[in-house]
Amino acid sequence: MLVIALCKGRSLEPSLATLAQAGIRFKEDVANSRKLIFDSEDGRFRAVLVKPADVPTYVEYGAADVGIAGRDVVMESGADILQPLDLNFGHCKIAVAGPKGARSIDGTDHPTVRVATKYPRITLDYYNAHGIPVEIIPLSGSIELAPLMGLADRIVDVVETGRTLKENGLDVVAVIAQISARLLVNRASYQTKRQDVLGLAHALEKVVQCESST
Ligand code: PRP
Repeated sequence: MLVIALCKGRSLEPSLATLAQAGIRFKEDVANSRKLIFDSEDGRFRAVLVKPADVPTYVEYGAADVGIAGRDVVMESGADILQPLDLNFGHCKIAVAGPKGARSIDGTDHPTVRVATKYPRITLDYYNAHGIPVEIIPLSGSIELAPLMGLADRIVDVVETGRTLKENGLDVVAVIAQISARLLVNRASYQTKRQDVLGLAHALEKVVQCESST
């Protein structure tokens, strides 16, 4: 049996839809249950539901053989896992944003730019790569509020439609990375359950190819 870690929240439905197209269906209504463990109809797969940021952890430690999560959480985790497939949904970007009219990722009178984010690792790597001293203000949500309240000069956050930025008077000043959902694989499972892992990866790859050709 392969254990698949899935994200609770907005990417659960597209993840389940992609798995269903690959022939993996669950006995119960996964999206509308409070249960956290679900076995597939054929008994070959077990889905576990976790917070998005925890999917790479479950996969890295082998509590799950595979997972589906956005590239953003994989980048942020720094987990030592395989990412064999772009699942081509959940498209968005990680960007630096600031008050409307802001033009640069520093753009502050102070030598150190204060950046609010739920992605401290990505933010630090990005600012270090640009040689700009940064103070990370770690937040867990409503990141767009931070510049409005004088808590930060810039934010690093996910931008999907851009509506949250726009409605809070903020603009993208730089795109750090394009994001989409990825298939994640535990390194040991890739060896010990190779046939099952490759079978799943190939089935999902076919779904992705079909979707992108329609
Ligand atoms: C995410 C993200 C942005 C928003 C971007 O927040 O952190 O705030 O979605 O989407 P948009 O570009 O389509 O407006 P989420 O809804 O996950 O809530 P959060 O503020 O609790 O992180």
